[in-house]
Amino acid sequence: MLSKEPKKNLLLQSFGDSINVAVIGANGGIGQALVEQLSLSYCVENIFSLSREGNDDQVFNSKGIQIDLEDETTIADAASAIRKTVHALDVVFVATGILYSHNNILPEKSWKTLDCGSMEAVFRINTIGPALVAKHFLPLLSVKKRSALAILTAKVGSISDNFLGGWYSYRASKAALNMIIRTLSIEMARRNADAVCVGLHPGTVDTNLSKPYQRGVEPGKLFSSKKSAKYLLQVLDSMSPKNSGFIYSWDGVELPF
Ligand SMILES: NC(=O)c1ccc[n+]([C@@H]2O[C@H](COP(=O)([O-])OP(=O)(O)OC[C@H]3O[C@@H](n4cnc5c(N)ncnc54)[C@H](OP(=O)(O)O)[C@@H]3O)[C@@H](O)[C@H]2O)c1
Repeated sequence: MLSKEPKKNLLLQSFGDSINVAVIGANGGIGQALVEQLSLSYCVENIFSLSREGNDDQVFNSKGIQIDLEDETTIADAASAIRKTVHALDVVFVATGILYSHNNILPEKSWKTLDCGSMEAVFRINTIGPALVAKHFLPLLSVKKRSALAILTAKVGSISDNFLGGWYSYRASKAALNMIIRTLSIEMARRNADAVCVGLHPGTVDTNLSKPYQRGVEPGKLFSSKKSAKYLLQVLDSMSPKNSGFIYSWDGVELPF
């Protein structure tokens, strides 16, 4: 549904005026909330909302584009479509991810349930997908000014913070994603000293992804997508190149690898 709410925030103002932002995973719980918040920012000119559906009906200054992270051609085509519309992007936000699927993937409680096909699918979406987004979208990112690639990761992807076990594929795919983020940050800095590349943990957020696993969450610790999206955009706004290559929580606290 098109929202024509008046602009009312200054989110991402550190990137300048009239900026262009791409949100990959714009139909997800957090992705959709990011698009909504961005549409209310005085600083944002164009939002490219990329999703598997490619729907165009989110907010008035957003253009829907189809993308499937499991099909590299669609990633390349999506980047080309953006290049035809704007000269450059200021921020690319990757908000895709999978923990389970309704047909066959469940987070593993034990090594006994490890399954090659499920692990591959989780890695394709959580690790390889964002890496391919970087391959096709980093050439679109501004080189002459501050710009950013932000990718949603998860606290459970921290190796040193893992004292609970379980969720092998999800944890490992996010740990590997964190390495991709770190490596991208090094290459990006050579191209633009003002570039930022960070992994962001959104908190525990009330979305389809967390729905089956919300039982043990303390009251007040389960964020709405809107609240998480605002925090994430504020944290990204506060990041400088010295933060690049690291992982941060929704409150700006650095997380261990
Ligand atoms: N929710 C939490 O508590 C929580 C906690 C920590 C980290 N995170 C991370 O936050 C990110 C967003 O999660 P969420 O909570 O917003 O989950 P969500 O509502 O399930 O959204 C996930 C999004 O990923 C998209 N996606 C999945 N496979 C895709 C593919 N092959 N190509 C393109 N898009 C694909 C989905 O697209 P469709 O709409 O087409 O299905 C959906 O839009 C994920 O990386 C997740 O790991 C979430």
